[in-house]
Amino acid sequence: MSMKVPASLVLAVWFFMAKQTLAQYVIDTNGEPVDNDEEYYIKPAITENGGRFTLINRNDSCPLYVGLEDTDSAQGFPVKFTHFANNIQDEDIGVNRDLKVEFVEVSSTCVQTTEWRVGENDTGSGRRLIISGEDDSAGLYGNYFRIVETESAGIYNFQWCPMELCSSCGFVCGNAGILRENGKILFALDGASLPVVFQKKDD
Ligand SMILES: *[C@@H]1O[C@H](CO)[C@@H](O)[C@H](O)[C@H]1NC(C)=O
Ligand SMILES: *[C@@H]1O[C@H](CO)[C@@H](O)[C@H](O)[C@H]1NC(C)=O
Repeated sequence: MSMKVPASLVLAVWFFMAKQTLAQYVIDTNGEPVDNDEEYYIKPAITENGGRFTLINRNDSCPLYVGLEDTDSAQGFPVKFTHFANNIQDEDIGVNRDLKVEFVEVSSTCVQTTEWRVGENDTGSGRRLIISGEDDSAGLYGNYFRIVETESAGIYNFQWCPMELCSSCGFVCGNAGILRENGKILFALDGASLPVVFQKKDD
């Protein structure tokens, strides 16, 4: 008796293995790939660094800043990710890829969009704070971030280094971490990196 393996199964196994070896995907707290049409809460991998990511009213003015809740119980806002180049027709979010990060389910009186954007170098801290809104400069570089791996599986850092958009631009790349200011926790480049995890909403 010979056993015939269906071609579709062979293809499925091959595709699965190819995916594992050819590309690296971001994994959520359930060990599943982070998907471009799901919503995720971002939170620190280590306690004492703040709660879920949210929008912060830094100074009673717009735009709002990207930051963290100061308690573990606060809701925060989930985000969605969108690759810059979706040429691999892949729903799974990759590491070291330029992507937009956008808070969803936000109601705010600010006119700016809720996508992340690298702000000006802040004079007080000497760090580039991450704000919300559409980059209105040429190239839109300020709206594209990367999720980069740490040494621990499932734990990542955010980086700003939009090399897929422009490999010859010579960006001053930076990793993102927290900046505490007047009891608020802001997210900023140019300091220690914050290790984060991705928790799928409704889990
Ligand atoms: C908040 O706004 C006031 C008035 O515009 C300004 O003097 C102050 O420096 C601002 N603070 C921060 C943290 O930006
Ligand atoms: C931001 O400003 C600080 C202090 O003025 C400076 O040391 C730092 O290099 C600047 N960062 C960038 C990315 O320009």
